[in-house]
Amino acid sequence: MHFLITAGPTREPLDPVRYLSNRSSGRMGHALAMAARDAGHSVTLVSGPASLPPPEGVELVKVETAREMFEAVKQRIQGSDVAVFAAAVADYRPVRCAGQKIKKGYETLVLELERTEDILGSARSVFGFQGCLVGFAAETENLVAHAQEKLARKQCDLVIANDVSQPGIGFDSAENAVTLCLPGGLTQPLPRQGKTDLAHELVQFITRLAATKKTPHV
Ligand code: CTP
Repeated sequence: MHFLITAGPTREPLDPVRYLSNRSSGRMGHALAMAARDAGHSVTLVSGPASLPPPEGVELVKVETAREMFEAVKQRIQGSDVAVFAAAVADYRPVRCAGQKIKKGYETLVLELERTEDILGSARSVFGFQGCLVGFAAETENLVAHAQEKLARKQCDLVIANDVSQPGIGFDSAENAVTLCLPGGLTQPLPRQGKTDLAHELVQFITRLAATKKTPHV
């Protein structure tokens, strides 16, 4: 099967030297790409800026902004059987990017932000993707309820929910503890473990899930 995976943060520029971003390291998405490759799948990894070596044997598409990630996914999703959205995409970007470095002036500075493209939310409705669609939900409260709502709203086959309020797991950490959320209110918590082991377990689960769906390239 062909896996398309998004990873890492995005950077939304404010001026030539500044940007808005988040603490995502890209480790979960990179680990998933390598686990899918190890399982014998072909893999395209669309990654925002990450300080990680490019995974061998994986097609790596480097992007910076949410808009670039949206375009890269749009161009490649139709040839994929599985799409896993592990990127921590910025939800908002500055309305204007200054042409020159913003100089200090007034005591306060108000930034006007606008919504970015919802890449996962576009997979079915805009890109017409019919393969196995997997999203992540990073939540600080009501983990399962929020993840189930996201699963339904974005028409996913699986949402991998992680509680980012717990120290030492998830964002910018080597370990993660997630709960799998499936249609019909089904949930399955997985034990806390390193992201590499977790990625292998997730790829096994997703491969079985994808095989139950009628996908164009199976
Ligand atoms: N995602 C995406 N494009 C965005 C924002 C998020 O593809 N612009 C994807 C993420 O990669 C992840 C999922 O959507 O798989 C969940 O992201 P999250 O920000 O937690 O969910 P939202 O639907 O944006 O909801 P909220 O921020 O309100 O929790």
